Amino acid sequence: MDAEFISVPKIRLINGVSVPQVGFGTFQIPEESTAEAVGQALRLGYRHIDTAAAYDNEAEVGRAIHESGLDRSDIFVATKLRNLDQGTDSVLDAFDASRRALGLEVIDLYLIHWPVPCHDRYVETWQAMSGLLDSGAVRAIGVCNFLPEHLERLVAETGVVPAVDQVEVHPAFSQPDVREAARLRGIAVEAYSPLGRGGDLANPVVTSIAQSHGVTPAQVVLRWHVQSGRIVIPKSVHPDRMRQNLEVTGFELSAYDLSAIDALDNVSGRIGGDPEIFDFSQSREDITARNETRQ
Ligand code: A2P
Repeated sequence: MDAEFISVPKIRLINGVSVPQVGFGTFQIPEESTAEAVGQALRLGYRHIDTAAAYDNEAEVGRAIHESGLDRSDIFVATKLRNLDQGTDSVLDAFDASRRALGLEVIDLYLIHWPVPCHDRYVETWQAMSGLLDSGAVRAIGVCNFLPEHLERLVAETGVVPAVDQVEVHPAFSQPDVREAARLRGIAVEAYSPLGRGGDLANPVVTSIAQSHGVTPAQVVLRWHVQSGRIVIPKSVHPDRMRQNLEVTGFELSAYDLSAIDALDNVSGRIGGDPEIFDFSQSREDITARNETRQ
């Protein structure tokens, strides 16, 4: 199927900005493979690319975008503020560094990467990001990994509602409490690790639904997200998988299928960090020392 024939639905954010519901995630794609993977994704029809300062691949993402020859306005680009850059004085410099690395004037979505409640700087960080929104340097602002209490405090103390909460959501860990807190405030939920980093694809409930629809387990899981109104950013470095992850609109899951997948939620299914305690600085040295980063 040609890229132009893959029709990806869009989600309208609270401030009216539209986001392609299926984006391409770049977490844990090695720096040296990123430009090739993002270039391939753009050729296949992805028009939403998700990166982060902490992934250390913004420059490669930017290179692929520029080399694609596509109009800037046709690609939705999201990046995230490193944890160590939270705070009134550091947000603007960090934002400029991301913008320079990406080679873009305007960022479509700028996100706080983690709340890091023990540092208690996410409210002032959010105020600085609201300034970026007002200046037109970003089209929308949002958060990642925010739990209901963090969303509650952010909105109560600033009056500015995040457009997006990007959180870990996949069949084995679907965070209904976070999704409900977001829904009540009109915040779009964006699922990271939407396939459970591949781990949920062998679940018998998922494989049997896939068989009944004649599609792959990944397509079933992504279709479950899409029909539930979430944005998804699956990651793959294989073109055939990238393509199938984008082709999730040609079939419909039944209400029974959706609830069977909802029922797989398990409190112990978390793969990434726990936002309550995750205080990793995300400096380059820390990332290298850990040898394994977490979303
Ligand atoms: P690979 O990059 O080798 O294709 P998530 O998006 O939940 O983080 O999941 C990413 C993981 O799932 C990666 O290991 C990726 O492997 C694998 N993956 C992505 N798409 C598919 C697919 N369509 N079928 C099987 N595995 C997939």
